[in-house]
Amino acid sequence: MEQKLNSLLDQAKKHLERIAGDGALEEAKKQFDRIAGDGTLEEAKKQFDRIAGDGTLEEAKKQFDRIAGDGTLDQVKKQLEDFRIQYLGRKGEFSAIMQQLGTIPVEERPRFGQLANRVKAEIEKCFEAKKAALVDSAGGQGPGFVDLSLPGRVPERGRLHPVTQIMAEVCGIFEALGFSVAEGPDVEHDYYNFEALNIPAHHPARDMHDTFYVSESILLRTHTSPMQARIMENQQPPLRVIAPGKVYRCDSDITHTPMFHQVEGFLVDTKVSFADLKGILTVFTQKMFDKDLPLRFRPSFFPFTEPSAEVDIACVMCGGTGCRVCKQTGWLEILGAGMIDPEVFRMVGYDPELYSGFAFGLGIERIAMLKYGINDIRLYYENDLRFLSQF
Ligand code: DAH
Repeated sequence: MEQKLNSLLDQAKKHLERIAGDGALEEAKKQFDRIAGDGTLEEAKKQFDRIAGDGTLEEAKKQFDRIAGDGTLDQVKKQLEDFRIQYLGRKGEFSAIMQQLGTIPVEERPRFGQLANRVKAEIEKCFEAKKAALVDSAGGQGPGFVDLSLPGRVPERGRLHPVTQIMAEVCGIFEALGFSVAEGPDVEHDYYNFEALNIPAHHPARDMHDTFYVSESILLRTHTSPMQARIMENQQPPLRVIAPGKVYRCDSDITHTPMFHQVEGFLVDTKVSFADLKGILTVFTQKMFDKDLPLRFRPSFFPFTEPSAEVDIACVMCGGTGCRVCKQTGWLEILGAGMIDPEVFRMVGYDPELYSGFAFGLGIERIAMLKYGINDIRLYYENDLRFLSQF
């Protein structure tokens, strides 16, 4: 019997040697002696196996070795943290063992608990010792110490303003349809902004375009339509052009800002019809809103187009059933359009009998508001990163 006991003890010591080569052995041996001493050797052994024999200590030691051996400081830091979580974390291995306390006979519990705690303390000790050793090897933490293991400061990544993004998207769609892009001046002559577009002085349509005057005949353009006249003056049909840019009006409320963006588009050729306009705009809205949205053309008036229309899409929010965004109508106005007025052609020297064409103008902020479900246009220009960084 005694022999049996001794050989068992030998066996256990060898096991322990394999588990932890350092001070942990002495401590474990003491614990083992305490458990084995009162005669419940079998039970004690089982308990001990459950704690240490499942490879926990062995695994822990292996991890320490790995930590010391390789890699950058960042990696080491992560390994240490992984180790801490795996063994000492709230859901770690020791927590799991402690939860088994209930399955152990009541008389054995204190001893089991004590043993588990000691093993845990040992691991903590090893862990702290290892950490300290690593700090030492990184040069200590005296004055001037640079902790190379700290993560660097990640530079904030910039991005395009949502209006710029939508502008690029709109232009991209029309470019894919064969339109070329032209840009013109923000500070415009009265002639191009009004006269050449069939809006003579004192025409009531000028009321809608109250703007900022630089002088009597120079102003901040109220729309991108002047580009129609500027391009047609200098080029012959066939033409397919879009003109994106900033425009200005004396307007400021939740759907208007004094500066906003438009994209003007026009196409001139022989035999261009209203059906061509409808086709192009249908393709555009489908691509822009990723949906097969129905379009509605409402008769309207613009001095530079005849006939003119305001174009609505089925509400992107409710799909047409009626909601707050579309004011229960099921429709959202997205642009103005029409067939270019013969008078406009005459002023640039085109023969209205030979050429026909369509034009349209859309507001970028409005498209972006509809696309993203934004109800206050001013958000675009407050430069609040909490808003802007969402796009
Ligand atoms: N320029 C008009 C505006 O800003 C929009 C517009 C309407 C442009 C009809 C067009 C058009 O080309 O055909 O209110």
